[in-house]
Amino acid sequence: MEKLYVGAAYYPEVWDEDEVERDIVRMKEAGVNVVRVAEFAWGKMEPQEGKFDFGWLERAVDKLIAAGVDVIMCTPTCTPPRWLLEKYPETRNVLPDKTRTEVFSRCHPCKSSPVMREKNRIITRELAKRFGKKKGVIGWQIDNEIFPYNEGCYCENCQKKFRTYLKNKYKTVEALNDAWKTARWSLEYASFDDVIPPVRSRWEHPSLQTEWIRFQCGNIISYVNEQAEILHELSDAPVGTDMMATNLLGYYELNEKLDVVQYNHYEPAADLPRTAFGYDFLRPVKNRPFWVTETQVGWNGSTFANCGHRPQGASYVNTWLPVAKGAEMVEYWLFRAHPNGHELAHGALFNTAGRAYRVTEEVARAAKEFERCAAFLTGTRVQSKIALHYSSTVFKMAEYAPMLQNFSYRDILSERFHKPLRRHNVDVIDTAHPLEGYDVLLSPFLFSAEEHDLPARILEWVKAGGTWIAGPMTDIMTEYASKYPDAPHKFLEELAGVYEKFDLPLGNSDTRVTWSEGGMSAFDTCFAAYDLRGAEALAMFANGEFKGLPAVTQRKVGKGKVIVLGGVPDEETLLRLVGVAPVAPASQNVALVARSGRTQGIIALETEGRAGTLTLAGTYTDLLTGKQCTGDVALAPYEVLVLEEVRG
Ligand code: GAL
Repeated sequence: MEKLYVGAAYYPEVWDEDEVERDIVRMKEAGVNVVRVAEFAWGKMEPQEGKFDFGWLERAVDKLIAAGVDVIMCTPTCTPPRWLLEKYPETRNVLPDKTRTEVFSRCHPCKSSPVMREKNRIITRELAKRFGKKKGVIGWQIDNEIFPYNEGCYCENCQKKFRTYLKNKYKTVEALNDAWKTARWSLEYASFDDVIPPVRSRWEHPSLQTEWIRFQCGNIISYVNEQAEILHELSDAPVGTDMMATNLLGYYELNEKLDVVQYNHYEPAADLPRTAFGYDFLRPVKNRPFWVTETQVGWNGSTFANCGHRPQGASYVNTWLPVAKGAEMVEYWLFRAHPNGHELAHGALFNTAGRAYRVTEEVARAAKEFERCAAFLTGTRVQSKIALHYSSTVFKMAEYAPMLQNFSYRDILSERFHKPLRRHNVDVIDTAHPLEGYDVLLSPFLFSAEEHDLPARILEWVKAGGTWIAGPMTDIMTEYASKYPDAPHKFLEELAGVYEKFDLPLGNSDTRVTWSEGGMSAFDTCFAAYDLRGAEALAMFANGEFKGLPAVTQRKVGKGKVIVLGGVPDEETLLRLVGVAPVAPASQNVALVARSGRTQGIIALETEGRAGTLTLAGTYTDLLTGKQCTGDVALAPYEVLVLEEVRG
C-alpha cells in the first residue's frame, strides 16, 4: 500500500461535459482523490450494436486524472442497453414464476446466457483496450453488486446447467436421492431431468434449495472470471468486483481470481461496531488492503430518504474505521446527487446543485488526516491472533435450512461473537482460510465444518497448540444441509471428548450455567448438554431441563485444547474463554486496532457518539494532534486517535 484513497461514485454520463471541471473543484474541497465511474453506462458506450463511443468517457477521465483524481473503471455489465435486452430477450433473467423480466431498472441479465456472455466479453474488451493502460486508471470493478437476485435465473438454459451441475456432483440420480433422502414424501427423482429448480416461497427441500443457490453463485463466479481474464490481459491495474455485506455469494470463491476485495455497505449508520465485522472479514481474504467501494455519506434514498442518516461525527469515524482495519480506499455513494431518475432522494457528498452537505466536511477532514498519517498507515498492518469462522456455505444453509427461528447467521456472529472483541484484533475468516498463526479459533454455528479438509486441518492446528472454541450447533450437517445419521456431529464429539446427550434448538433468556471455577453466567439462543468422554466440564447448566449436565467442556489435545459451547455465552464469558488480552483496556464504546510493521501503534475510535476512555501501558504520540499520550486517555464522542508508539 502506497497511499490512501478517499472517493466517491461519479456519473459523468449524467452531466454536461464541462460540469466535470466544476466537479473537480468540489472533489478537491471534499478530499476526493479517486472516483469510480461507468458501472451503469453501457448504453452510452455502445449506443448501437457494435458501434462504440468512449470519447465522452475518456474526456471526463482525462480531466480527472490531469487534476490528480485517480479513476476506478467499471465494466457496465449490470445494465446492458435496452436495444440489447430487447433484441436478445434470452439475455434477460427469468423469474421464479417463469416470466422473463422486463427492462425497467438494472441487474436484469441471465448469468449463463451465451449471448449475454459474448456481449459482456466484447464490451469488456473494448473498454479495456481504451482504458487498460491509461495512467491514472488505478483499478477495475467488474459489474455492480453482483448477486443471485430473485433466487437466480430460471430460464431453460440455467435449468439445464443446474441438472448438469447436479450430475457432475452426485454422478447418479440414485446417489442424489440417497444423499437427500428423497424417499421420504416420495420425492425420488427417476432421472436428473426430473429436477426442477426450487421456488423459495414454496416449502421446498432444503438440500435442493442450498444446491440451487450454490449453482447460481457458481454461475456468477464464472461470469465475473471471464471478464477478469480480459482485464488481466489488457491492464496491469488490480481487478475486483464490489460485493454486498453478505457472504451468501462467497467472498473467498468470488475473489479467488481477482486482485482486490471490494465491498459496499449500507449498515445502520449508528452501528459502527457492526460495520467493523465486515472489515475484519474482508482483510484476510487477500494479502492486500481492501477497498470500500460504496457506503452512504448521508442517508439512503432509493425511493425516499430513509435509513442511514449519520449523526454528526459518524461519517468521520465511518471514513476512518475501514482504513484503521486495513482498507486503502473508502468511496462514498455518491459524489453528487442525481438530478432525476431512480434514487432521487439519496444522500451524497454534494447535492444536485453542487452544494456540500454537512457531512462532506467530516469526510474531507478524515482524508486530510490520512495524508498526515500516511507513513504510519502504509508502514503497518493489522495482525490477529484470534480468528472467527464465517462460512459462505453456512450462510446459504442458514438462509435455506435455518433450523433456528429468526436466525441471522451474520447478526449472531457479529453481535455475540465479534462485537465483544472490539478491543482485540480479530480476523473473520471463511473455512478455506489457513489456520496457521492464530492462537484461538471461534467456530459458532458452523453448521457444516467438513469443507476444505477442515476436520484434519483443525486437528493438526489444535495439536500444535491452538485453542478451538466450537459451537453451539457446529459440525451438524453436510454442505447440502443433510444431518449425519450416526452421530449429531461428524467429528466434533470424538475430537472434543464429549457425547451430546440432549440438544434444544430453542432459546430462552433465563438459562444459567455455573462455572467449576466459581461464578455463574447466562446462556441463550439454543442449548446442548453433554456427557463427558474424555473432556472435563468447565460449566454445568444451573437451571432448566438440562440442570446438572455439562454445558461447556474442555479437552486438551496435543499442545492445544478444544472447548465446546452448549449455548451462546454472554460477553464477559466469551472474553474469559478467548483468554487473550485486549489491545488495551478501554470503555465499551471504543474500538481498538493494533497495527505493527515498520513502527507500531494503536488506532482508537469512539464509535457510539459519547465520551470514552482508554488506558495505555506505554507512551504514544497521537499523530493527529502531535500530543504525547500515556496512562488514562479520554476520547471525545466520535474521536479518533492514531497512536504511534514512542520507542524508548
Ligand atoms: C447500492 C448500489 C448503488 C446505489 C446504492 C444506493 O446497492 O450499488 O448503485 O444504488 O446502493 O444506496
